[in-house]
Amino acid sequence: MIGKTVKHNPKTILVTGGAGFIGSNFVHYWLEKYPNERIIVLDALTYAGNRANLTTAEKNPQFKFIHGDILDSDLVGKLLDGEQIDTIVHFAAESHVDRSIHGPDAFLKTNIEGTHSLLKAAKKIWLDGGEKDHRFHHVSTDEVYGTLEPAAPAFTEQHQYKPNSPYAASKASSDHIVRSYHHTYGLNTTISNCSNNYGPYQFPEKLIPLVIANCIDGKLLPIYGDGKQIRDWLYVNDHNRGIDLIIRNGESDNTYNIGGNNEWTNIDIVILICELMDQHDPKGAPHNRLVSYVTDRLGHDRRYAIDASKIMSELGYKPEETFETGIRQTIQWYLDNERWWRKVMDGSYREWLNKNYN
Ligand code: NAD
Ligand code: DAU
Repeated sequence: MIGKTVKHNPKTILVTGGAGFIGSNFVHYWLEKYPNERIIVLDALTYAGNRANLTTAEKNPQFKFIHGDILDSDLVGKLLDGEQIDTIVHFAAESHVDRSIHGPDAFLKTNIEGTHSLLKAAKKIWLDGGEKDHRFHHVSTDEVYGTLEPAAPAFTEQHQYKPNSPYAASKASSDHIVRSYHHTYGLNTTISNCSNNYGPYQFPEKLIPLVIANCIDGKLLPIYGDGKQIRDWLYVNDHNRGIDLIIRNGESDNTYNIGGNNEWTNIDIVILICELMDQHDPKGAPHNRLVSYVTDRLGHDRRYAIDASKIMSELGYKPEETFETGIRQTIQWYLDNERWWRKVMDGSYREWLNKNYN
């Protein structure tokens, strides 16, 4: 079993963190593409999880929502057994780097212990009483690799792990624990390490939705440090397409980088969004008057860049959106869904922002 290529055909999948940004996009993508497969979402509905992200999915008989915590290994075991789940796609995490700087504890608890709790349940149900067909896919990040010098080649899967923030370190730890469950117990695991995502339903604490929302409201656009940090941006469903390929065709115990070869400095992204907002709202133009340089993030990584040639050559992966099409769709989504982002921003997010930044 260990190390062999596994073609996997999911019938019922458990999506942890499916009420968050990438998870909810994944659920919509999956239900549309695979109408005969069942999806069960397990989500604790933290500040980042929102059941409203799943409104259309809730009408689908193939979909079920369970409000619960990945740390509850007994609950996960009962779900895996009772619902005959054969695939876990593990998105649930604390995901915001700034929050990990102000309060690392929740990151270690959810991202490390939470991942281990899922692995324990998966081992118990899928391996201990006789092996069942299964796959455990762990969704991770390019931040585990640390930061790159300006001219350095992009991260490959062989790049040394050098996580710099408590968030990145907690994700790196969880990757290692997943790997250990394959090597020690023979669990059928895969891991993806993806670059920065953007798209609908992203909580407006992250750069792109924050800038769009603040442009709409005429609020300042905070740029950390000199704004020359580089991120490699991918439209959210291009990430989900990669995960789909890995679940079905990826080799057990393999790690796949996912990215779209799309590096931008933060300030260039903000200026681009301002220009697109000028077209939408000429009266508010120029929106770049709102740019405001603020104190840098502690330990701020300078550059991320993903080399996705492995998933491209081995699994035929190719992103579908260009940055031009993806960013326009994203801006339009935030313009069309003002009620959604106003509601999520008015709650605990404002409290957190006021506590930490005033
Ligand atoms: P998010 O913060 O938007 O959503 C996280 C979801 O997990 C929320 O619905 C939350 O309620 C849920 N959750 C948190 N703790 C939980 C717990 N203990 N039990 C059950 N549910 C819990 O995150 P996201 O941006 O959608 O990221 C999803 C995953 O993808 C994360 O693992 C993240 O590390 C990874 N990732 C994110 C990006 C990105 O750019 N956003 C890029 C690469 C990888
Ligand atoms: O690289 C993948 C990672 O991308 C994921 O693993 C994380 O879950 C996700 O949050 C994201 O992390 P970043 O820290 O790169 O994303 P964020 O949107 O917070 O910031 C993007 C860049 O913009 C970063 O260099 C910090 C900067 N920034 C961010 C905010 C919120 C600003 O300059 N101003 C801001 O207000």
